[in-house]
Order: sequence, then C-alpha cells, then structure tokens
Amino acid sequence: MKLKDRLNDLLSEDELNLLVRAYDVVGDIAIIIIPPELEKKEKIIGDTILEIRKNIKVVAKRHGNYGGEFRTIPLKIIAGENRKETEYKEHGVRFFLNPEKVYFSVRSSNERKRLASCVKPGEDVLIMFSGIGVFPLVIAKNSPAREIVGIEKNQVAHAYAMKSLKSNKKIKNVTFFEGDVVAIMPTLSRKFDRIAMPLPKTGEMYLELALSCLKKGGWLHFYDFQKEGAFNDSIEKIKIACQKTSRALIQSKVLISGHSAPKTYRICVDAHIS
Ligand SMILES: C[S@@+](CC[C@H](N)C(=O)[O-])C[C@H]1O[C@@H](n2cnc3c(N)ncnc32)[C@H](O)[C@@H]1O
Repeated sequence: MKLKDRLNDLLSEDELNLLVRAYDVVGDIAIIIIPPELEKKEKIIGDTILEIRKNIKVVAKRHGNYGGEFRTIPLKIIAGENRKETEYKEHGVRFFLNPEKVYFSVRSSNERKRLASCVKPGEDVLIMFSGIGVFPLVIAKNSPAREIVGIEKNQVAHAYAMKSLKSNKKIKNVTFFEGDVVAIMPTLSRKFDRIAMPLPKTGEMYLELALSCLKKGGWLHFYDFQKEGAFNDSIEKIKIACQKTSRALIQSKVLISGHSAPKTYRICVDAHIS
C-alpha cells in the first residue's frame, strides 16, 4: 500500500497534499523530506512507513540540505531504531555507510551501472571523489576493468570504502586512497584509460588535473549541473581545459543522470580525449 493511501485517515487533505510522494531507501533506512507544516505529524508518518515497509527499520527526515566540504546532509530520526548506519546492496556489491556522515545517493545507481558498461577489457580506471567507494566497487563487479583506483578526502567515507572492499572478498582490483585529489594524483605517477569525476558543480576546478592523469585516447566522464539548453557549456569547460593542457576533444556526448532543480539536470559528459 502507498504511504499516502495509508495516511488517508490520519492526515487532512491539505496535509496529504504537502507530503512528498517519494522517499529514498538506503539499506534499511528510509529518508524522507518533511515540510515544516507537517513536523507535528512526522512521528505518525515515520511509523506508517515502518508499518507498510517491513524491511525498513529506521525512518529519518532530511534536516537541512547537502552541503559542506563533504557534501553531507543532516538527518533526524523520526521513527524506528536509533541508528544511522546501514548496509546497502547495489549491482551485486555490499556497502556500509552512515548517510549522514558521507555523501551517498541511491538515485545514481543506474548511472553507476552505465559507467561500468562503458569500461572495456583491461582498462585502468580512476574515480576521483570516490565517496564510500560505490563507483569503484560497482565497476569492479560489473566490468572487465584491470584496475580501479578511488580517491576520497572524507576520512569517514574512505573508511567505509575500505570496509566494503574487505567485505566483498571477490573484488581484488580496487585500491582506495584517502586524501585530496590535488595531493594524491601527482603521487600516483601513472595514467588511466578512463577517469570519472562525480563531483558536479565544483568538479570543473579539477579538469586540468584529471587530464594530466588521462592517457591519450582515454575517456573522461565529467559530471556537471546544467540548465536545459545549456549542455554545450559543460562540453566547453572540457574544451578549455584541453586547450590549457595541449590536449584535444575527439568526441563527446551528454547524458542526463538526474535532476538537481527545476529545468536543471545532473549531466555526465562522456569525452574522448586525444
Ligand atoms: C558528490 S560526492 C560523490 C561521492 C561518490 N562518488 C558517490 O557518487 O557516491 C563528492 C565527494 O567528493 C569528495 N571530495 C570533494 N572534493 C574532494 C577533493 N578535492 N579530493 C578528494 N575528494 C573530494 C567529497 O568528500 C564527497 O565525498
């Protein structure tokens, strides 16, 4: 039964209209947006989610927006067990995380699978800004990559990535580094066939750094937030970085991987670079 249907007798029509239809589920934690007008009813809403989704053990509400150095979001538990850590499975991989202490979006799951499907046999792949390691581990499990490296500066996210790597015993070709990409990438002294930059908005600051570690003929996956009709601006950012580093864009295509605001999308530019 849908949440709104179940709440029919408990909330007024106006209150039901305020309730957002969808909520995210990360492992056994449901994460919901409660508008201020519904705060007094949040316990009823949380308990109802627990009733209709038996696999959910914790209901938390967003208590702010994504922000800060690590792009995290404050959460407040409104029903269920008093914990924020969970275990989550995606594309055959087990992950551990506390969604308040690390950035994580279940909504990018299809995009992670898509990226894995781009990887060709024997490729070395670098994931800058790897968070809890979800891109590297999904690619390791679902592609013929030779080696995958992830770099993340949030110590907590890195620790979860290491824990998940250990628990997925069959995955042997992933290495995680904790630290800033600016400090870590030059020390790797190597180049990659494919580099992904899943840090929309501020990621463009690191385009030249990414190109310095990309092999000739390699692929760059550059994520950006972009308004409808302005997708070429994101391609332009790559072209400018190419000019500055004496590289060239051979071809590119833009894929929409989510929404960030009305008429604004989270896009990925797949760029082939010589
Ligand atoms: C939008 S999140 C993406 C995380 C992960 N790739 C995912 O999709 O779940 C961006 C991540 O980049 C990390 N980050 C931001 N700037 C960084 C930098 N200069 N070096 C390393 N990590 C960075 C943040 O801590 C955050 O975990």
